[in-house]
Amino acid sequence: MIQGIKPVRTLTGKLFTPPDKSISHRSALFAALSSGKSTISNYSSAADPQSTLGCLKQLGVNVTQQEDTVVIDGVGRDGFQIPQAPLDCGNSGTTMRLLAGILAGAGIECEMIGDESLSSRTMKRIINPLRKMGCIIDGRDGEYAPLKISAHNGIRGMRYPLPIASAQLKSSVLLAGLFGDDITEVVETVPSRDHTERLLGLKSEAYGSGKIVQSSRSDTLPEQNYRVPGDFSAAAFWLVAGSINPDSEILLQSTGVNPSRRAALDILIEMGADITEDNPRFEGKEPVSDITVRHSGLKPINLDPKLVPNCIDEIPVLMVAMCFADGTSVISGAEELRHKETDRLEAMHEILAEAGADIELKEDGIIIHGSPFFEPRPAKYKSYHDHRMAMAAAVLATRSSGMSEVADAECTNISYPQFWTHLQELSA
Ligand code: S3P
Repeated sequence: MIQGIKPVRTLTGKLFTPPDKSISHRSALFAALSSGKSTISNYSSAADPQSTLGCLKQLGVNVTQQEDTVVIDGVGRDGFQIPQAPLDCGNSGTTMRLLAGILAGAGIECEMIGDESLSSRTMKRIINPLRKMGCIIDGRDGEYAPLKISAHNGIRGMRYPLPIASAQLKSSVLLAGLFGDDITEVVETVPSRDHTERLLGLKSEAYGSGKIVQSSRSDTLPEQNYRVPGDFSAAAFWLVAGSINPDSEILLQSTGVNPSRRAALDILIEMGADITEDNPRFEGKEPVSDITVRHSGLKPINLDPKLVPNCIDEIPVLMVAMCFADGTSVISGAEELRHKETDRLEAMHEILAEAGADIELKEDGIIIHGSPFFEPRPAKYKSYHDHRMAMAAAVLATRSSGMSEVADAECTNISYPQFWTHLQELSA
């Protein structure tokens, strides 16, 4: 589907931020691991979290879904059945990496497959530590999906300093650790999103400027009864759209503001964005608030590389904001963007260049010479089959001088199926 985007130049209105993708995945996986019944409300209808539910059903877990409420009968740590067909993770890296941790830890004989994009993303980062623990797991060329997992003779706990600041890697190792009699410790020096440790209630202690998180067979696995908060990563598109378009005012209700996820909000405020947070509260173990963004001028920023893992999914749309800031912004330490659904540094460089932005691509980031008077050229953007590229291009196009297009626009279904409707409603 080709989606046309009008140069609206003002976005107003309110919406409920769509359910968080990362938390939806985890709520379902952890509910399955518990031994009771969990009722999860506001579960994401997006393709990725639905892939997780599909895999759980293939593993013999009873999952029922009515509108946005999902009920899962936990099978307990040792209750998964050997699947009859390969587990289809679709486009979802989180499904593959977290579930591989669980299944390799449990020693469930299976194969895990993904679409073309997922099959081209390295799984070496999880295969290596899982093997060190005694799990039996391999991939095509030792690195890519399909992954093959086999039964093992028991796994060993280990102390694992994370070589990459990745929540998927951290979670995969900790989830495998749940099947070991001795303790697995993950040492994290640069913080990444902490939903796994929060929702499972894993033991964690400070370690220098970071922390050590532990898991083992003696951890009790809690049922997951809560409402999934709104996805901060989805809200970020509107935080930028509202900031750069004159006279805009958008209210984003029930948005997750977990400190390990909200860096883009703080970065935008530092850039001069007019953003307020109201009604701070908790949904389950996760903090949420209602966020309002209004149009404002933006200042350039030198992004602190230590914050990159806390805004990894928001960096593409932050690049859009930087195009409208009054001066030069620099992003470095973001080479992980090259390992997402597409090479997001390369793709964003092409999208911004297409719009006529003044940019320089680096190996680990980008330099953006912004201007409040920047007017993106009307363009036909590619999506690179990557939901976040399509949405970042759309936000950019709202400030254009003419009609733009995003190709393959249905790829937003991966995380945010309501995106185009919400854009239309806010533009009305
Ligand atoms: C995710 C972690 C991030 C993020 C992805 C979801 C998660 O990946 O980019 O969209 O739910 O744990 P990494 O942890 O690999 O950086």
